[in-house]
Amino acid sequence: MLFAVGSVGADRPRQLRLGLITPPPHLWTQSARAFGQDLEAHSVESRWLNQITLEVFPSGQLGNEAQMLQLLQTGALDFGFFTTSELANRNADFAAFYVPYLARDAEHAAAVLETKTAADILSGVEKFGLIGLGYGMAGMRQVVSRKHVESLADLRGQKIRVVPDRPLTDFWYFAGAAPTPIPLSVLYDAFANGQIDAMHIDFENTLRLKLYDHAATVIHSDHMMFPMVALASAKTWATFTPEQQTGIRKLLSTHLRHLRNSYVEADKKFKQELRTQGVTLLTANSNFFQAATQPWLNKWRRLSRYVDALSQESQALMAVGNQ
Ligand code: BEZ
Repeated sequence: MLFAVGSVGADRPRQLRLGLITPPPHLWTQSARAFGQDLEAHSVESRWLNQITLEVFPSGQLGNEAQMLQLLQTGALDFGFFTTSELANRNADFAAFYVPYLARDAEHAAAVLETKTAADILSGVEKFGLIGLGYGMAGMRQVVSRKHVESLADLRGQKIRVVPDRPLTDFWYFAGAAPTPIPLSVLYDAFANGQIDAMHIDFENTLRLKLYDHAATVIHSDHMMFPMVALASAKTWATFTPEQQTGIRKLLSTHLRHLRNSYVEADKKFKQELRTQGVTLLTANSNFFQAATQPWLNKWRRLSRYVDALSQESQALMAVGNQ
């Protein structure tokens, strides 16, 4: 989709590109498109965006996240919305977001993403030739299983889909399962053809991708948050004037805040729609993943210097929320 942004002035027209892996209806893609439309609207009122257009490429049309990250580094791609998993594979600091039960729910997760520690983690992308523009997020993580599940013991030895990354692979390994990395784009087929027995996913994708088609149980566990990282190519960024940089940051931050907050209601709505589809939903309490939590923390607090700092900030937010 192409959004033409302004035509006033003598500056050279520029067509920028934003890539992401989520399909068109997904809230991340809707947010990217709204950002493009906002650029267009602002170009009418102000001259700083002269002749900039933004083309959004959803569904991994430009490649998977590893490939898109390389395109950003070379300046062949200008912007991208990425899972924290892709970044955690390069910089262990991002694993701090995967502390089990770091956030109680989507509202708490959105607040965690506004902390100073989250901002410090984001600044770590600069050494990769990237500019961190802020965080979005997906819904809280749940479990979708082919067979009926009541406890973690029922998932032992099962092939559980994880987003391809080290911290999540470890989490499921410590849970006694066989973690199997599968990207979102091929998840439905992997579940349908028996390559995996269950998956670590959210309500939104469970509903939109009809992942419940082959599931006996969806476990509402809220056991992890799942941030999105909005990035720009440092090469592209250096070509903007300071005024353009400030303006783009400001516009995008409004959309990212809206995206983060939208999951507070969206998670409830997607869950309700799954019920309407006749899906069996079970609720797991925070003891469900107890066996995996401590071993994961023991390992990852050594690998990511932000695990403890982010946990402390998150608990402080919880204390304020409980007052
Ligand atoms: C996933 O792979 O689980 C995922 C990717 C992007 C957005 C939400 C979920």
